This record gives sequence, structure tokens and C-alpha cells, in this order.
Amino acid sequence: MIRLEGLEKVYPAAHGKPAHHALRGVDLEIGKGEIFGIIGRSGAGKSTLIRTVNRLEEATGGRVVVDGVDIAQLSSADLTAFRRRTGMVFQHFNLLSSRTVYGNVALPLELAGIPKAEIAARVAPLLDIVGLSDKSDRYPAELSGGQKQRVGIARALVAEPKVLLCDEVTSALDPETTQQILDLLRDINRRLKLTMMVITHEMSVVRELCDRVAVIDDGMIVEQGNVFDVFVKPQHPTTQALIAGEIEAALPKSLRRIINEGPAGAGENPVVKIVFTGPNAYDPIISQLSRIAGIDFNILAGQVDYIQNRPFGILFVEAKGGLAEAEKAIAFVRSRNLNAEVIGHVDPNAVPAG
Ligand SMILES: Nc1ncnc2c1ncn2[C@@H]1O[C@H](COP(=O)(O)OP(=O)(O)OP(=O)(O)O)[C@@H](O)[C@H]1O
Ligand SMILES: [Mg+2]
Repeated sequence: MIRLEGLEKVYPAAHGKPAHHALRGVDLEIGKGEIFGIIGRSGAGKSTLIRTVNRLEEATGGRVVVDGVDIAQLSSADLTAFRRRTGMVFQHFNLLSSRTVYGNVALPLELAGIPKAEIAARVAPLLDIVGLSDKSDRYPAELSGGQKQRVGIARALVAEPKVLLCDEVTSALDPETTQQILDLLRDINRRLKLTMMVITHEMSVVRELCDRVAVIDDGMIVEQGNVFDVFVKPQHPTTQALIAGEIEAALPKSLRRIINEGPAGAGENPVVKIVFTGPNAYDPIISQLSRIAGIDFNILAGQVDYIQNRPFGILFVEAKGGLAEAEKAIAFVRSRNLNAEVIGHVDPNAVPAG
């Protein structure tokens, strides 16, 4: 549905600043009806990328093909029509403060010269979908952030787009509202069979919403795949760092403080992180580890989560022995197709009780 081929963007030098190569040969293919996440750090090129898809930003090389059409070839009239069919939702909502909820959602249709009665017939069911039927006559200033974003979403959908582009749409919202908006976007994706490109710097958004994900780093896609696979076996250091923030919250702060990441000091026991996935997630692995390695393992922290309805757990254990025993245990874990690694060491006297 959306195909990016060798996409390049160079922002020219301006105001004494040198030229900036923001996209460096991006290749991506997003299937029809898919929710595709693009994650990266600030400045990685995410907004630039999504804005080249509807030509809010002109690419300086490569191609963007949407539904079989190379969008660089569109005449200006065709581009206007194309943009109308490509909904976009923004981080800061971009609503017109002088227009009501109804007026904001209706605007794209008014601009397209659609008759009033038809506009009314299209806006009402959308306000219903986003849960704002009772706020139709309110102004943006009278709405919460989540409600404003619902208006933004309704406005993006009113021209019945096939593609929805979302740039950090939950970044200005609190966690609970974020969850509601992500649920709404999922629901819309299913109901309307929309293809969605979702830009975010939050792994939790990818995890809750997306089917596949690509990681962008300094204008290049450094990793992509199914969300579950990328979460469970991140390959690139940037992906690993982004996921670490999300997942290693499983390791309580009080424990993090006593784990020393450097080489083991005298009497310091290795801490092993074990990642459980799929059918082996609930194996009684600790007792097996003790048997294989000939030492005890002390559970420090752990959690089991679900990503795309598949179990995914993390366990932090302290090996009550040396590195050699810990490595035996790791080899065993890996032989079961699970992931394990030593993440540090802990002074046996420093482990809090319980
Ligand atoms: N109009 C512009 N002119 C010059 N440089 C720009 C322009 N827009 C963006 N850049 C630069 O291009 C790079 C990528 O910017 P972009 O906005 O795409 O990043 P981002 O991944 O969306 O970041 P954030 O998460 O902070 O929104 C940055 O280094 C930025 O400074
Ligand atoms: Mg951005």
C-alpha cells in the first residue's frame, strides 16, 4: 500500500546552519490494512519521513509509491485530492480554535466543496466513532487533550482516507488517555481497514498498537520486523536501548542500584537476565538451572507480559556461584531457544531480604 524506495531528504543549508541529510536511503513496504510503527530517537528523521509520504515535505531522492501511484508524479490538483485521501493526525492536534468540534471535523469536506447536508451526514457518525457526539458544539478550549485528539482523528477520517499517518499522536497525553486513544486507533483500523503509519518515540505505543515496526536511526532504517520478534530479540543497539527503557522497568530501582555492571569484584555473584517467549514461557526453569549448573539461583525480579497475545517474560536471577556456573546456565537456557545473558554482578551481602 505504501512503498518507500531509497528515500532521501537533504534539508539545504540555511540561516548559517549547514545542510542536513535527514533521510538516507529509506526502503519500506507497508501492507494494506497494516499498522506499521516507526520508532526512533528525537532527531532520527521520523517526522521528516512521515511528511514525505503526503508530500508535506518533498523528498530529494528516491520514491514514495502509495496504492501504486508515484506521488512525485501527481499534478497539483491530483496532489490535493491525494492529500484529502491521506489522513494525518498530529501530536499537538492542530485544531482551529475558532471552530467548534463539528466545524473542525467538517473543514476538509467544506474545503472540498461538499454540500452541507452531505457533510452533516458524514460528520455525525464519525463523532460517534470517536465518542464525541455530545461535544459537537464545543470549542477546542473546552476540551481535554484526549478529546482534542479525538477531534483530530475524526477530522483525519472525514474524507474517508485509505491511509492514516500518525505523528506522535499520544505524546502530549497522559498514560490513561494514551491507552484510550491507542484503543480507538486499533478499533478504527479494524472497522475501516485503514493502512496506518505510526510515528513514535515510545516503545509502549508500538507494543500496544502496531503489527510491524521499523527502527530509524540517523535517517536510516536499522531494523524492522514483526513487533513481537523485535521486542524479544532486538538486534540493533538503538532498538535494544529503546526496548531496555520499556522492559527493564521490570527490574526495580532498589535492585538496579545494587547491580554493578562492570567486571565481578570478589564475592560478587553474576546476575542473569532470562527472556522467556512462546511455549516455554512457563517452564519450571529455575529448578532445572540449579540442577544443570549445580548452584542455587535466587529470583531477584520478574514479570510475564503479553505482546500480540503471546507470552513474553523476563526474569532476573542471581547465580549463587561464579561466572562459570552462570555460563553453564546460560548455555542451557539458550539450548531451549530462550535468551539469557549476564547483565552485572551483585554483592551477596547487598541483596535486600525477600
Ligand atoms: N525544516 C528543516 N530544516 C532543516 N533541518 C531540519 C528541518 N526539519 C528537520 N530538520 C532536521 O532533520 C533531522 C530530523 O528531524 P525530524 O523532525 O524528522 O526528527 P524526528 O525524528 O521527528 O524528531 P522528534 O522525535 O524530536 O520529533 C533533525 O536533525 C532536524 O534538526
Ligand atoms: Mg518528530
